Amino acid sequence: MVSIPWLWSCCLDTQTLVYILLFGLLGLAIHKRLRKKPVFLDPRGRAVLITGCDSGFGNLLAHRLLDLGFTVFAACLFPDGEGAQALLTHSSPGQVKVIKLDVTSDKEIEQVKQYVQDHLPDKGLWGLVNNAGISLWGLVEWQTIDKFQKSIDVNLLGSIRTVLAFAPLIRKNKGRMVFLSSTNAYVSFMNSVYSLTKAGLEKFCDCLRLEMKRFGVQVSIMNFCCLSLTSSGKCKTTVHPKCE
Ligand SMILES: NC(=O)c1ccc[n+]([C@@H]2O[C@H](COP(=O)([O-])OP(=O)(O)OC[C@H]3O[C@@H](n4cnc5c(N)ncnc54)[C@H](OP(=O)(O)O)[C@@H]3O)[C@@H](O)[C@H]2O)c1
Repeated sequence: MVSIPWLWSCCLDTQTLVYILLFGLLGLAIHKRLRKKPVFLDPRGRAVLITGCDSGFGNLLAHRLLDLGFTVFAACLFPDGEGAQALLTHSSPGQVKVIKLDVTSDKEIEQVKQYVQDHLPDKGLWGLVNNAGISLWGLVEWQTIDKFQKSIDVNLLGSIRTVLAFAPLIRKNKGRMVFLSSTNAYVSFMNSVYSLTKAGLEKFCDCLRLEMKRFGVQVSIMNFCCLSLTSSGKCKTTVHPKCE
């Protein structure tokens, strides 16, 4: 006859073993999930189109991507301006294509689309950065309907225009789309015009993100506030000293 203490210790052992096994499997599963291999993307032969490259973040990003080795389509309001010209001198011949683009113009969007299609590097258009934007402050009653229309046209419809034009190319390469939003999308104080354009942009991005997921395209929103950038990329602001 099996003694009770032996049975008890045997059960405990079996139980312990089962627990150890289960915890081990759980640990393995978690480890596998967390240990995502870093993806190293080779920028050579991949192109990124950035709007609003004349100055600020767009211009700095263009410089950075050129340094990394991407081909950059730098869309500028003023291709002969200082910011655009600095990009040309910064890069190796042909690496940057400075193109005229006012994002409120359907005609120019069509021309740029044609130009991009004709000048793509071998791995195609991989990134679209919707950076062009204008900001406007003040009480609602200080504004005119023209000011609302202009801001919506640049900040919201401008990004939608580029998506409609370039989404097929980005989809083809399982690329990325990035949108420059603002904390003003959530903060409502003397900024109705700007705030509504960025809030609308974020809603648009959310819809686009869900639609693009099945094509392997990532849609991202960059959200920051109160930066004033120098040409060397340093933050000049006194509002957010931490962003230095
Ligand atoms: N700086 C911030 O604190 C901050 C915070 C949150 C979000 N953002 C957003 O980040 C983006 C970049 O901001 P930033 O600070 O770098 O400002 P920025 O220096 O004024 O850059 C905006 C760029 O868009 C261009 N642009 C204006 N209207 C255009 C149009 N119709 N078509 C094409 N390009 C046009 C501007 O050209 P011109 O220079 O020739 O006018 C400029 O190059 C914007 O979308 C902005 O709303 C900025």
